[in-house]
Amino acid sequence: MRSYIPAQADAAPLFDSTELDSQSARAAFAQDLLSGLKRTPRTVPAKYFYDAAGSALFDQICELPEYYPTRTELKILADFAPQMAAQIGPDAELIEFGAGSLTKVRLLLDAFETINAPTCYLPIDISGEHLENAAQRLRTLYPRLNVKPVVADYMQPMSLPATESPRGRRVGFFPGSTIGNMEPDEALSFLHSAAEMLRGGGLLIGVDLVKDPARLHAAYNDAQGVTAAFNLNMLRRANLELDASFNPAGFNHYAYYNPILQRIEMHLISKRDQTVSVMGQRFSFREGETIHTENSHKYTIDGFRNLAVQAGFRAGPTWTDAENLFSVHWLHAPAA
Ligand code: TRP
Repeated sequence: MRSYIPAQADAAPLFDSTELDSQSARAAFAQDLLSGLKRTPRTVPAKYFYDAAGSALFDQICELPEYYPTRTELKILADFAPQMAAQIGPDAELIEFGAGSLTKVRLLLDAFETINAPTCYLPIDISGEHLENAAQRLRTLYPRLNVKPVVADYMQPMSLPATESPRGRRVGFFPGSTIGNMEPDEALSFLHSAAEMLRGGGLLIGVDLVKDPARLHAAYNDAQGVTAAFNLNMLRRANLELDASFNPAGFNHYAYYNPILQRIEMHLISKRDQTVSVMGQRFSFREGETIHTENSHKYTIDGFRNLAVQAGFRAGPTWTDAENLFSVHWLHAPAA
């Protein structure tokens, strides 16, 4: 067994992906999967999609012709980056929630003059290895930017390193409509903590919009079956990491738009009566029984702005694409 050497105070990342980490990650997955399978209806927390195979499949989803959100958000960022940079203001400390897609933050960084560019970039992610690689690449591209990855689950309370300069304003960046993967009450409490954490600055956030259900349906049921593979990968991961006995071919990917709750729901549906064991515990599935793996809530522009205001932000400009598929919002945090 490898010994665990604590990272130095200013070394990045704050934690390393050591054996210890992966053991506790496995224990958390086991616990969450077992308790989710005992619930009715059965659920698995969506964060377990993202092992290496899941992350690669997710990258493929973002490239699919039917999956409009990524490319639409990128276009909005590219078209309006100068206006966004003006809201962010000089000497910002940028904090990105979730795996920093380098492309997205780079569109923002490139919209600044050297003199007023963000001084510091803190990408927060639970996957330490992925994060450190991304950080290294960014450092070579932006040598003046202080890149300080933070390995943490941004849904949990956490402390950030102190701001570098007394003038430093903290600005959050939360693209990808990841906020839509939270329940509305979780989204509200996330925004509430963000408003506190970002006092004196603001939040730039991407939110997918309510639209024609046919368009949504296509986006989460792509012709090539990549989203299906992504959903089913949860079962493969359980087999690999937890000695589970899922037969992925025994389940169907099922995603549909629920207009009452304004969300896409992703499920895995058992094709037949079957029994599966996970960590020595047995679970019986009836034909047609589902495991609910993820929600992707859609908002109207006003609906989202109201939520942000409830959380303590003041709504600033909202940018959209010509077809009104996706939105990016600037939210002012309360004064410091
Ligand atoms: N947050 C994005 C969305 O809800 C991306 C995403 C998360 C996603 N999980 C997914 C896309 C599962 C497809 C399938 O659309």
